Amino acid sequence: MTETTFTPRVFSGIQPSGGLTLGNYLGAIKRFVDMQGDTFETIYCMVDLHAITVWQNPADLIHNTRELCAGFIAAGIDPEKSILINQSQVPEHAQLGWIFNCVARMGWMQRMTQFKDKAGKNAQNASLGLFGYPALMAADILVYHATHVPVGEDQKQHLELTRDIAAKFNPDYGVDFFPMTEPVIEGAATRVMSLRDGSKKMSKSDPSDASRINMTDDADAIARKIRKAKTDPDALPSEVKGLEGRPEARNLINIYAALSDQSVDQVLAEVGGKQFGAFKPMLAELAVSKLGPISSEMARLMNDPAEIDRILSRGSLRAREITAPILRKTYDIVGMVAPV
Ligand code: TRP
Repeated sequence: MTETTFTPRVFSGIQPSGGLTLGNYLGAIKRFVDMQGDTFETIYCMVDLHAITVWQNPADLIHNTRELCAGFIAAGIDPEKSILINQSQVPEHAQLGWIFNCVARMGWMQRMTQFKDKAGKNAQNASLGLFGYPALMAADILVYHATHVPVGEDQKQHLELTRDIAAKFNPDYGVDFFPMTEPVIEGAATRVMSLRDGSKKMSKSDPSDASRINMTDDADAIARKIRKAKTDPDALPSEVKGLEGRPEARNLINIYAALSDQSVDQVLAEVGGKQFGAFKPMLAELAVSKLGPISSEMARLMNDPAEIDRILSRGSLRAREITAPILRKTYDIVGMVAPV
């Protein structure tokens, strides 16, 4: 079989389940921004169909989808350069999702650790959608023939499943139709931890608001949370190995490095030997200068939801130029009679 070549295309998605944090920004959105350009076509998605695998208040879901869209744009996703969509407006995602439900095997799905984590002890009461979630995710990606998917470490298993689905579909039907998607996994430097506990991921669901920086926080809130962040009594090291066993110090240094587009080595060369009392104001100033404009732009965009809705519907028209032919071709391959 000849190797098909696929257009270099990036797809990624975030659930509009509310509460964007600095972790979402550095771990995902900022990387999405950096991938815009001439190398890839870029498609970014608010995965509302995934969000409802656990019950969402409908009014909140609408608000959170618009807010996520505002966050994308405020952070630098250009809706002209990238295709920006919410998943439910591009029906081919769900349609290909069904086909993939028929390709994926029960045994593969039962291995998914995210399902086990999210369903917890009460798996019998989890929605069927939560169980099937990764097959829809594979469809999100493959309905664009996306070649690269930037995601967090926690999504690695779902991307392997995406490859498994392509690797089964293609020979089952004697085609070379779906690409083997490459995961682009976030590095440790972009994994943002809680400001109260350096061993826990920064999370919107942590009961303490002081544990996280929200993308909607204003300058005062950002500065205050950094000032109060947990640290240890020692001075900062000048080399990376001096961060061992110091998760809070490592986290603040990682955040500084990511926000300033420097490596951890470069940052430590600059701040090594300083006490936290001197470093925290530097970090606060940097964070406010990078995040303050994003939160005020988000607030401005949220004042005009109709404009956000227009951007999303334009995005879905552009998306469907890619997805409709790929879905039709898939139906042809599978043996679905086409309309005449
Ligand atoms: N599962 C992803 C998450 O929870 C979100 C997601 C859905 C996604 N579809 C995707 C990410 C496709 C990348 C590509 O973070």
